[in-house]
Amino acid sequence: MTVPSSPSRPANIAVLASGGGSNLQSLLGHFAGPAAASARIAWVGSDREDAGALQRAARAGVPHGLVHAPLDGAAMCAQLQALEVDVVVLAGYLKLVPPEVVRAYHGRMLNIHPALLPSFGGPGMWGPRIHAAVLAHGARVTGATVHFVDEEFDRGPIVAQWPVPVLMADTVESLAARVLSVEHALYPPCVEAVATGALRLDANGRVVGRVGLAAAEKSGAVRFAVAQSSGPTSHELGAVFGPSFPQQP
Ligand code: GRF
Repeated sequence: MTVPSSPSRPANIAVLASGGGSNLQSLLGHFAGPAAASARIAWVGSDREDAGALQRAARAGVPHGLVHAPLDGAAMCAQLQALEVDVVVLAGYLKLVPPEVVRAYHGRMLNIHPALLPSFGGPGMWGPRIHAAVLAHGARVTGATVHFVDEEFDRGPIVAQWPVPVLMADTVESLAARVLSVEHALYPPCVEAVATGALRLDANGRVVGRVGLAAAEKSGAVRFAVAQSSGPTSHELGAVFGPSFPQQP
């Protein structure tokens, strides 16, 4: 089971989600456009019957269902392989993925986290708790991180990050909303890059390749660092924060 480099069919992406599924929605939109030639959302899975993501999949006419045994690695691998899944995308999936599945999809499973990892991640760091912790620590910058998945929550190699300034007047809700809108622009091009083989893990577990970010950069006012870049220059940082960077009163 590999991601085909010149595929005879579009790569099959499974999106796993436990919650509302707004990231799923952005992925459905992305892969309904030109990216459909190289990959498609083939299945949406959840550990929760009441996940809004399953309703979104139903509305979009995408096959969907429950992950039969989320804690049983062999069963989960069998379910994904029966669906001919090439790439697994976690989008608000709250269960730890069993090690057998992590191994089977090494370099082909992504997660998005609403903070700048390795800060504010790990077990128990999900949803509003993350943004509450960012505010409680007085962090001035947070953001979104896309990373390959390994055996621990929020730990695998980082693919891309997008910084988001923390404003003085922010609440958990306002910060969550600002980060979420960034997630929607950041995740689809990263998923496309993995699905097409443009981005992968090398034999040493390092991220190699490129994410096509032109559309994401055009759609937003910010730039961000991706793996393999040597980091932002001061000019690029100016482009990141620009006039939207909060002036402290
Ligand atoms: C997102 O903030 C994502 O980063 C995190 O869970 C949330 C899911 O939101 N892993 P949604 O269900 O995609 O709206």
